[in-house]
Amino acid sequence: MNAKRKLGELEVGPQGLGCMGMSEFYGAGDEQESIAVIHRALELGVTLIDTADMYGPHVNEELVGRAIADRRDAVVLATKFGIVREPAGGRSIRGDRDYVRSAVEGSLRRLGTDVIDLYYLHRVPADTPIEETVGAMAELVTEGKVRHLGLSEAGAETLRRAHAVHPITALQSEWSLWSRDIEAEIVPTARELGIGLVPYSPLGRGVLTGRFASSEDFGDGDFRAANPRFSGANLEANLKMVAELRALAEERGVTAGQLALAWVQHRGQDVVPIPGTKRIKYLEENVAAASLELSDADLAAIEAAVPASAVVGDRYPDMSSIGR
Ligand SMILES: NC(=O)c1ccc[n+]([C@@H]2O[C@H](COP(=O)([O-])OP(=O)(O)OC[C@H]3O[C@@H](n4cnc5c(N)ncnc54)[C@H](OP(=O)(O)O)[C@@H]3O)[C@@H](O)[C@H]2O)c1
Repeated sequence: MNAKRKLGELEVGPQGLGCMGMSEFYGAGDEQESIAVIHRALELGVTLIDTADMYGPHVNEELVGRAIADRRDAVVLATKFGIVREPAGGRSIRGDRDYVRSAVEGSLRRLGTDVIDLYYLHRVPADTPIEETVGAMAELVTEGKVRHLGLSEAGAETLRRAHAVHPITALQSEWSLWSRDIEAEIVPTARELGIGLVPYSPLGRGVLTGRFASSEDFGDGDFRAANPRFSGANLEANLKMVAELRALAEERGVTAGQLALAWVQHRGQDVVPIPGTKRIKYLEENVAAASLELSDADLAAIEAAVPASAVVGDRYPDMSSIGR
C-alpha cells in the first residue's frame, strides 16, 4: 500500500496532507507546529500538500508557502479557487475567465511559488459554463502557471464536459466510510475518463477517529457545530456506529481512525486521500494507516460497523452546490 500512486499523469505519495484545519474550521492552530507537521509529512513520503485560497481566507496558503519555501521541489502543491468569501460573511462561487486569471495570481503570490502543481475549481458555479472555467484554467497550463487541473465536488456530467476541454487530473470530493454518495455515478465516470480521486475529509472531519463524544466537544466557531451531521441527536446516532468501529479497531490493535483511513486507501490505486491534521502525533498515526493491509472480510466488517446508509444528516447545511 505504500507505493506511489498516480492521479491521472501526476505521481504522488499514497496519502496526502490536508492543511485547512491549520488555519480555520476546526479550532485554533499553532503556526510553528503546523509547519512542523508539513515538514514531517514530507519526510514520511507524503508529497501532495492541499490548501485553498478560501481557507483562512488566504492565510492557509501563506502558511503553506512559508512551510515549503526551502523545499518546494519535494512538494506536489495543490490549491483551489472559486469560493469567494464576502466581507459580510456570505459566499459566492465564481468561475468566469477574469476571476480565474486573477485568482491564480493571488495563490501564486501567497504560496511563494511560480507554479501550482494541481489547481482545482473548488465548486462548480451555477452561472458560468464549465467550458469557460476550464478553458481559462487550461490557459494557465499553457502559460506555465499551473501543471495539472482538478475539480472539487463536481457531478459526472460536469466531469465529462470539463475533461473534453482539457484533461482533468483529479476530482477532490468528500469520500469516507460515512460519505459514499460519489460511488454510484461519479467515481465510475472519473475512472472511465482516467481522472484520479482525492477523497477529502476521509476521517469524517475527525468523528470517525472516535475522538468526539458529543457536539459539546466542538469549540466556538468550529464549523462542525453548525453542520447537520454533527449536531445534537444526529451526532448521537452517528457516534453509535463509530463505537462499533472503535471496537473493531481495538480487536486489531489499531485505532478507529486508522481503520477508516485504510478503508479509503483500499478504494483503488487511483485514490489518494488527504486527511487533515495540525498535530505530528495524528499525522504519524494517519501515515501508518497507509501500510495497513485489509482483507475483503476486514473491509466488509468495517462497512458493517459504519453503514453509510444509516448515517443521519447532510454533509453541509446547504448542499445546493454539491455534485453540480
Ligand atoms: N474540496 C473541499 O471542498 C474540501 C472540504 C473539506 C476539506 N478539504 C480538504 O481535505 C482535507 C482533509 O479534510 P478535513 O480536514 O475536513 O477532515 P478529516 O481529515 O476527515 O479530519 C480532520 C479532523 O480530524 C482530526 N484528526 C486527524 N487525524 C486524527 C487522528 N489520527 N486522531 C484523532 N483525530 C484526528 C483533526 O484534528 P486536528 O485538527 O486537531 O489535528 C481534524 O479535527 C482538509 O484539510 C482540506 O485540505 C477539502
